[in-house]
Amino acid sequence: MYNASKEQYDAFDRQHDYLGSKIKLGKELLWLTKEQCIECGPSIDEILDIVKDTMIAHGKNEYEMPAKIGIHPYEDVFFHAMPAYVPGQTAAGIKWIECFPRNPRQYGLPQTTGVQVMNDIATGVPVAIMDCTWITAMRTPAVTALSAAALKPETEYFGMFGAGVQGKEHLRYIVHTLKKLKKIYLYDIYEDAVKKAIAEVQPEIDVEIVPAKDPKEIAEKCETMSSATIILRDPLCVVKDEWISPGQTIIPCDMNTFFDLKTQYKADKYIVDSIEEHQLFADMGYFPQDKGLPKVYAQTGEILAGTKPGRESADELIVCSNIGISVNDIAVGESILMKALENGVGTILPL
Ligand SMILES: NC(=O)c1ccc[n+]([C@@H]2O[C@H](COP(=O)([O-])OP(=O)(O)OC[C@H]3O[C@@H](n4cnc5c(N)ncnc54)[C@H](O)[C@@H]3O)[C@@H](O)[C@H]2O)c1
Repeated sequence: MYNASKEQYDAFDRQHDYLGSKIKLGKELLWLTKEQCIECGPSIDEILDIVKDTMIAHGKNEYEMPAKIGIHPYEDVFFHAMPAYVPGQTAAGIKWIECFPRNPRQYGLPQTTGVQVMNDIATGVPVAIMDCTWITAMRTPAVTALSAAALKPETEYFGMFGAGVQGKEHLRYIVHTLKKLKKIYLYDIYEDAVKKAIAEVQPEIDVEIVPAKDPKEIAEKCETMSSATIILRDPLCVVKDEWISPGQTIIPCDMNTFFDLKTQYKADKYIVDSIEEHQLFADMGYFPQDKGLPKVYAQTGEILAGTKPGRESADELIVCSNIGISVNDIAVGESILMKALENGVGTILPL
C-alpha cells in the first residue's frame, strides 16, 4: 500500500468536488468511445510527459499496482486485469484488456481490445468507463520512445518489428525522442502490413521509413530496435543472437518472444518496466523453467528517474523489456477523463 501525502489527499478531495460538479457521483458514470478518447486525448508530446512522470513515480515506488491477473481460454491469447493507483496523477482505476493475435486476419478485429474503469479516489465510486485501445496504443510506444532516448539518445538507425497498431504508433513516437534519427527500418511477417504502415505514417514524419528485407537487416543495421508482434509462451526467437552486436539497445514490447532468449540472458543490462510483472510471466512459464527470468538490473522507471544509471559504456548490450504497466494507462485515462468532463464529451449513463 502507498501512503499518500497530505497534499495528495487534498488533491483527491478537490478532484472529488470537481467530478461531483460534472456528474452525479454514485448515480451516474461517463461512457467514452474510442473516438471520444482520441478527441479528448493528449498530444504525443503531452503523452510522453504524462508517461515519463508516471514511470518516474513508478521508479520511486509512488504507486500501487498489483501484477496482472489473467484468463487464457486458448494457448495464444490472454485477458488481463490491470488495476493501478497513481496518487501523483490523482488517478485510480482498472484496465480489462484482451489480446487475441489471430483476430486481425481471422475475424477482421483488432488483436487488442478492452475497456478501462476510472474511479473517484476520495469515495471509490466509478466515474467513467472508456475504450482502452487508443490509450494502450499511445502509452506503449511512449515507454519505448522514452527508454530509447534514455539508453541510446544518439541512435541514427531505429528498427521496428511488427507493423500493426503498436508498430505504427512506434514510428510516430520514436521521432519525438530520438532527435538524431536518419532512418527507420520496418519489418513484418506480412509485406502488405509494412506497405500500409509506411503509406499511413510516412506523410506524418520527416525521418525516412524503409521496409527491411528481413529481420537480420534490422539487427545488423540498427543501434536501437523494438518489437510489437505477438506474445507467446514458447518464444519465436526470430532475431538470432549471432546477429546482435555490443552497444545495441533492444526494447521489446513482446517480452520473451521475438528476440533470441540467449541475447536476453547475456545482455550487460536487462531492464524491465516491472519486476513483478515479468516475474509473473516467468512463473507462468514464459521463460525456460530452469533459467527463470534473466537477472534484472533495474526497472525502466528507475532509469528515467535517474536513481540507477542507464548506459555506462558505448559497448554495453542493453535489453529493456516493457511488458506494459497499468499505471500509465490509468494516468493517461485520467487526462482524457478530465478533458471529456471539461468539454462535455461522452454519454452519461445511469449507474
Ligand atoms: N508491452 C506493452 O505494453 C504492449 C501493449 C500492447 C500490446 N503489446 C503487444 O504488442 C504486440 C502487437 O500488438 P498490436 O496491437 O500492434 O497487434 P497487431 O495485430 O495490430 O500487430 C502485430 C503485428 O505483428 C506482426 N507479426 C506477428 N508475428 C510476426 C512475426 N513472427 N514476425 C514479424 N511480424 C509479426 C503481425 O503481422 C502484425 O502486423 C502484441 O503481442 C501485444 O500483446 C504490448
